[in-house]
Amino acid sequence: MLKKQIGIIGLGIMGTNLTLNFEKNGYQISIFNRTKDKINELMLNYPKKNIKPYYTLKEFISSLNHPKYILLMVKSGKATDETIKKLIPYLKKKDIIIDGGNTYFKDTIKRYNKLKKIGIDFIGMGISGGEEGALNGASIMPGGDKTIYNKISHFLIKIAAKKNNRSCVDYIGPNGSGHYVKMIHNGIEYGNMQLISETYNILKNILLINNKKISKIFNKWNKKELNSYLIKITRNILKFKNKKNKYLIDLILDKADNKGTGKWASISALELESPFSLITEAVFNRYLSNLKEERKIASKNKKIINKKIKRIKEKIFINDLEHALYFGIIISYTQGFLLMQKASRKYKWNLNYSVIAKIFQEGCIIKAKILNKIRSIYKKNNQIKNLLLSSFFQKKTKKYQSSIRNIIIESIKHGIPTPTLSSALSYYDSYNSDKLPANLIQAQRDYFGNHMYERTDKKGKFHTNWKI
Ligand code: ATR
Repeated sequence: MLKKQIGIIGLGIMGTNLTLNFEKNGYQISIFNRTKDKINELMLNYPKKNIKPYYTLKEFISSLNHPKYILLMVKSGKATDETIKKLIPYLKKKDIIIDGGNTYFKDTIKRYNKLKKIGIDFIGMGISGGEEGALNGASIMPGGDKTIYNKISHFLIKIAAKKNNRSCVDYIGPNGSGHYVKMIHNGIEYGNMQLISETYNILKNILLINNKKISKIFNKWNKKELNSYLIKITRNILKFKNKKNKYLIDLILDKADNKGTGKWASISALELESPFSLITEAVFNRYLSNLKEERKIASKNKKIINKKIKRIKEKIFINDLEHALYFGIIISYTQGFLLMQKASRKYKWNLNYSVIAKIFQEGCIIKAKILNKIRSIYKKNNQIKNLLLSSFFQKKTKKYQSSIRNIIIESIKHGIPTPTLSSALSYYDSYNSDKLPANLIQAQRDYFGNHMYERTDKKGKFHTNWKI
């Protein structure tokens, strides 16, 4: 019984659903929330569950046996710090705090170090899957000490999503690594969503296809290698009609919000100097979408090309688009995993990428068929330099590159923006180039700043007096 007791603080959507998930799995849950309303609401909605409400932190803590397992599901940032600060006086050595919020990984590292000094164990845990995952099985990324993970793994396995009888949870690595992997998950999510929205835009504004037919196309794609949660929900969204028989998608304002995790991922890529162009393009395009009023004014200057160009053969074009999207998705995951590799070296996390791919395979927003391939590639070689060097993705990208070129060319002709599709191809073309024009950049740097350059014909650093 002792082991089956968990305390949860923070009853937002995620906290509430995780409470229900734990309860369903036979755990006795103590709950606490800063304000009473959410506690009362939960108890009113689920009066018969094995959930015990507490209205003061003191009573909440006293309800838990030592060592206490406390899951924080409060807003990330200041709220998490404040809650930990209030908890500390009530805790003893070997009690475990688990932060399940969307926390910035550097904050997790700081909190881990601070709590370590006073003997309190801390796990920074990324959770993906939204409210549905929290309730029925999430994708879970815990970071901290392995010995502490081992103590809590029995209940994480229960609440995690399952894929082929494997739980989508495993030990990620030390301190902030769990939240880092969650942050990259979100970055890939931004990339994939933008790629899908570009293909929707192309179908709508180049082929002039209606929502119902676009939904059918996504449905077809979802049955093959593009199979994924995001393609599935896109299919459903596009065919959804409101009570007035209108497609809801056409009534939604084209301004995309964000909660900042994509920005964090891009900042990390800049700090670690790892190419992350596709995902960063996706982040920038959310900002660009928010300039609605300016776009409205500026759009008056654009020559609208809304006539379907006759020579496009619809069937071939849709086939190309399917391949172009898959190409883009390959680059999105490639850049995400690459950044994790870079971070693992920098922060000494020793990440296992096939385990991470396994965790992403169910319960989370970026779950997709492609992850099965990624998992097996990293299983064979955890240190592979780039997924594009694996024979599977090498062959795929080689096969699909003419498709993505065709799609981008047609989009440019029609004035349809393809920021992430174009970024995917540019990354691919650069990565697959033995020679890049960086020699000219080096010459320019040396010309104006004496920065020196290396040569192809001899070793060493050189400077030239260019102005003679
Ligand atoms: P979700 O997205 O899951 O709905 P959220 O909005 O990120 O959740 O965070 C919700 C939780 O953080 C709530 O339980 C909230 O408490 P209230 O219901 O009292 O608002 C909690 N929270 C936010 N700020 C807090 C703070 N400064 N101290 C403690 N808890 C806080």
